[in-house]
Amino acid sequence: MNSIKLDISKVYSFASEKSIVALKTKAEAANKALHDKSGKGNDFLGWVNLPSSITDAQLADIEATAHRLQSEIDVVVVIGIGGSYLGAKALVEAKSDTFAHLKGNSKAPFVLFAGQNIGEDYMSELLELLDQKRYGVVVISKSGTTTEPAIAFRILKEHLENKVGVDKAKELIVAVTDGSKGALRTLATQMGYKTYVIPDDVGGRFSVLTPVGLVPLAIGGIDIRQLVKGAADMENATQSQVAFENNLAAQYAATRYALYQGGKKIEILANYENKLHFLAEWWKQLYGESEGKDGLGIFPASVDLTADLHSMGQYIQEGERTLFETVLSVQKNKHHLTIPSDKANLDSLNFLTGKNIDYVNKMAELGTMLAHVDGGVPNIRIELPENNEYYLGQLLYFFEKACGISGYLLGVNPFDQPGVEAYKKNMFALLEKPGFEEETKKIKERL
Ligand code: PA5
Repeated sequence: MNSIKLDISKVYSFASEKSIVALKTKAEAANKALHDKSGKGNDFLGWVNLPSSITDAQLADIEATAHRLQSEIDVVVVIGIGGSYLGAKALVEAKSDTFAHLKGNSKAPFVLFAGQNIGEDYMSELLELLDQKRYGVVVISKSGTTTEPAIAFRILKEHLENKVGVDKAKELIVAVTDGSKGALRTLATQMGYKTYVIPDDVGGRFSVLTPVGLVPLAIGGIDIRQLVKGAADMENATQSQVAFENNLAAQYAATRYALYQGGKKIEILANYENKLHFLAEWWKQLYGESEGKDGLGIFPASVDLTADLHSMGQYIQEGERTLFETVLSVQKNKHHLTIPSDKANLDSLNFLTGKNIDYVNKMAELGTMLAHVDGGVPNIRIELPENNEYYLGQLLYFFEKACGISGYLLGVNPFDQPGVEAYKKNMFALLEKPGFEEETKKIKERL
């Protein structure tokens, strides 16, 4: 198969090749533990063989829903937060025409998101837009009780019902949730919404290849078959019997762990293609929630380059030397644009006449990599042959598999997130939620 590529050679002056290869046995054992379900959090390993287990019938069902909605709506609002939001957002941003909403020539509904924040202005402005649009809603929540999406859904459900009537609204709402339990499952059953199930053994941040990601992406016109194919090929290429030397996910996990052991505590995911901004947001949740526990873990950060070279570049070059950088580099673009000649040449750029913009971008990438390595920032490079669904599918699964291996190398349970409950307890106490009386009393004493 054509594959994404991994280059770790620019870390060797910080973590030697020997120190990375020394992790071979541990990384292979971690990968094996993911496959034979013998490690921590083993009830949340449904994602490991997920891509290859998705059936043609499942994809066809999602596509049928997408086609039905595409003929009836101009906008789809996807409601969800965290793992029920970031995967779809990342892929929509990566694959959509950046200016489709202004061009007005999109073949598929424009995908908007809600429930990923509680901003009153955001929601009010969204409602003003939806007053004028034919729209549908995909509401996604595994638990069915998460506050942010639940509030957004209350508001949008009421808005849509008022706009098109209760019966029509039922046809324009799709729910993606637990198979049997939770408030959203109960409501969806009562209302008769079309529903899709999030498997019990797939946690939120590993759920992009379940209906959580596939349903909104199909509605938005993204090729989910190629996405799943790419992921399935990467699943195959990172099986437990694949030796470390050939296993990109194991190599990436071992490299970042070796760097962490050497004091590199922050990983910056850098892209040179702005469309990958939200891919990094998805990646940050994946690694942040999976590794950041028990006082351990690499802090995942991200930059969009070259833009952030004009803001964060100074710190990366000369700040505290606890960073390493992982660069996402896209090789082939969809469009080609050359730099024109200019008679006056006031900007002295005529030497670039006829060159592609991407040529400048690639030289910026190369120059930056050399400068950062010289400045003490190890560089991992991940190359995507193209920004298409197939390679993005590979990339998603590659990161998931490497994340599972990384968590086991670190010794944590990569599949729980106990820390995210702390804010919820305080928020409910402050909101005086019934059942939180004791916490409300305690928290008020602290204020
Ligand atoms: O990774 C996670 O588990 C979280 O980010 C959840 O995805 C997020 O909190 C949303 O949860 P739910 O889908 O239950 O609404």
